[in-house]
Amino acid sequence: MSRSKTILITGGAGFIGSHVVRLFVQKYPNYHIYNLDALTYAGNLENLSDLENQPNYTFIKGDITDELFIQELFDTYKFEGVIHLAAESHVDRSITDPLAFVKTNVIGTIVLLNAFKDCWKDDFEDKLFYHISTDEVYGTLGETGLFIETTPYDPNSPYSASKASSDHFVRAYGETYKLPYVISNCSNNYGQNQFPEKLIPLFINNIINNKPLPVYGDGNYTRDWLYVKDHAIAIDLIFHKGKQGETYNIGGFNEWKNIDLVKLLCKQMDQKLNRASKASEQLITFVKDRPGHDLRYAIDASKIKNELSWEPSVTFEQGLELTIDWYLNNKRWLANIINGAYQAYYQKQYG
Ligand code: NAD
Ligand code: TYD
Repeated sequence: MSRSKTILITGGAGFIGSHVVRLFVQKYPNYHIYNLDALTYAGNLENLSDLENQPNYTFIKGDITDELFIQELFDTYKFEGVIHLAAESHVDRSITDPLAFVKTNVIGTIVLLNAFKDCWKDDFEDKLFYHISTDEVYGTLGETGLFIETTPYDPNSPYSASKASSDHFVRAYGETYKLPYVISNCSNNYGQNQFPEKLIPLFINNIINNKPLPVYGDGNYTRDWLYVKDHAIAIDLIFHKGKQGETYNIGGFNEWKNIDLVKLLCKQMDQKLNRASKASEQLITFVKDRPGHDLRYAIDASKIKNELSWEPSVTFEQGLELTIDWYLNNKRWLANIINGAYQAYYQKQYG
């Protein structure tokens, strides 16, 4: 059995974080997992209601930008490992409120780095700060080529600029203070528990409710999609077996133009909902483009594949079907988000 460890996971009530928390709590009974989350609009503790009574799991409500609080937390719990996912994560929101992204993604990351450094500066042995980032820091690709770990950073949105900045700070702390770190940059995730503002869950919800599907521009933008549970598995591998001071790209080997993805989603939804063939496609509506919209993201994930033997476990068709089934079977979860009731869960559960 692995030796005991105290691990801080930030942003664990969010989409990807909830899958990472569950994987670690269940797989490593010897670890104590502290899930720190501010419960912004994107944080939903219902995502983790099955873990509430696990003896190796503790939820802490708090903001990563609160310096004093974070320092005290490290003084109290002495986290040996940090897996940092807390962030503002939606590009469209970053266009309307860039400063919120600087506060959480840049300043919040520096606050955590400082607390980790101050806690362990005399003994970095066996400690690790794992920063979760995105492929969007590399900017946009043209019709060809793939992002590799050494692709120069060239962010185009306030979201990706804030994530790029946080990546640079993590690396700078590694160089300057010898802080042990690892970074991974992942492509677009999809799956259970994703807030219905991102493309796939928003469109699933709209199809269920027969609402228009707003495709930005001409729909010829390309993303590389990865099933969220495969991302969580990659994070587990990198945390335990990744090389310190390295970056790993994670992707699905799975590029889709938005319009083709939306048509596949419509087809699978029509089958699940017993609707006539192409019924949901009628809902597609081309709308004004996103400003600064990146044309194409695609990851070359051969480093993690070759060095850590990681590969996606499901095809896109399988992952999408699992995702659709989950949303159709969890209409209450979706309804609670739409009507805001999910935000009362913390109060009910934790007082
Ligand atoms: P999410 O928006 O679903 O969740 C973010 C979580 O962080 C929420 O629970 C929120 O309450 C919490 N949070 C926000 N601000 C906070 C603060 N100041 N203090 C404490 N907690 C705070 O995001 P996600 O999609 O799960 O993404 C998680 C991480 O993975 C992010 O760092 C994101 O940049 C990165 N990432 C996401 C994707 C993707 O496709 N979703 C792809 C690659 C990388
Ligand atoms: P999104 O899920 O917001 O992820 P990201 O911007 O981080 O890649 O968007 C995925 C793609 O779908 C992106 O090209 C923008 C597009 N999109 C739409 O066409 N319509 C929408 O309503 C949304 C939310 C996204």
